[in-house]
Amino acid sequence: MRLTPKQLRQFEEEGYLFLPNVFSPPEMDVLNGEVPRVFAQSRPEVIREKGSDAPRTAFYVQTWNDIFARLARHPRLVEPGAQILGSDKLYMHQFKINAKAAFDGAVWQWHQDYATWHNDDDMPTPRAMNIALFLAEANEFNGPLMFIPRSHRQGRLVAGHDVTTTSYPLWTIDHETITRLVAEGGIVAPKGPPGSILLFHGNLVHASGSNLTPWSRWIVYLSLNRCDNAIRRFKRPTWIANRDFTPIEMLPDNCLTEPARATRGAAE
Ligand code: SIN
Ligand code: MN
Repeated sequence: MRLTPKQLRQFEEEGYLFLPNVFSPPEMDVLNGEVPRVFAQSRPEVIREKGSDAPRTAFYVQTWNDIFARLARHPRLVEPGAQILGSDKLYMHQFKINAKAAFDGAVWQWHQDYATWHNDDDMPTPRAMNIALFLAEANEFNGPLMFIPRSHRQGRLVAGHDVTTTSYPLWTIDHETITRLVAEGGIVAPKGPPGSILLFHGNLVHASGSNLTPWSRWIVYLSLNRCDNAIRRFKRPTWIANRDFTPIEMLPDNCLTEPARATRGAAE
């Protein structure tokens, strides 16, 4: 899927791009059929919320689930990443499904992903990004992602390592800085049905609130990085900060609903 020049310009200016209904309901049924099984697993890659059994994040799912393995190579996700990052050679720095579980989903403090990629993983430059696919609807109540538009233009901001607020350590930004950035750029929270995608820059400041609703807000994230920008410190497990820098090879567009045909097509 190719982005138009206008969409590319919008990404560059605002730091994100929201595209509703990129995947069809039958495709979302295939993916969502897997999710309860993924979160039910007891393995180190599946992180629970602090003080509860509710799933928070399932990491590296593309290596232990066949359906998500296909999604990780989907052209509707990987091709826009290649366009934005300006390279055909991208690898998966991180792949995760965030649950933001009904009633139990906890916050993600304000942060830039590149702060963590730089501080923990020694990623040389911010030429990496996220592509999020809404598995469930994201609405104004269930803890949607919040962005500060244009904050990616500030470069990497000073951050502190928060290891206490939630079950997952994160380099977060102080309230004074967030207040200043919000005064300049405001806050947006793109909302939409399952199948919508949200692309955002590694330096875009973002957060999400807790989920007090009966609606889980499942989102899958591909964190794509250029192969020539690979990380240089291997402090975190490979399932959080991947050390396999093999370029992603895209599958045909129908790989979710017609996997046999898609795989055969790819080999021919
Ligand atoms: C993240 O910032 O990595 C996740 C935020 C969310 O899923 O709400
Ligand atoms: Mn993030």
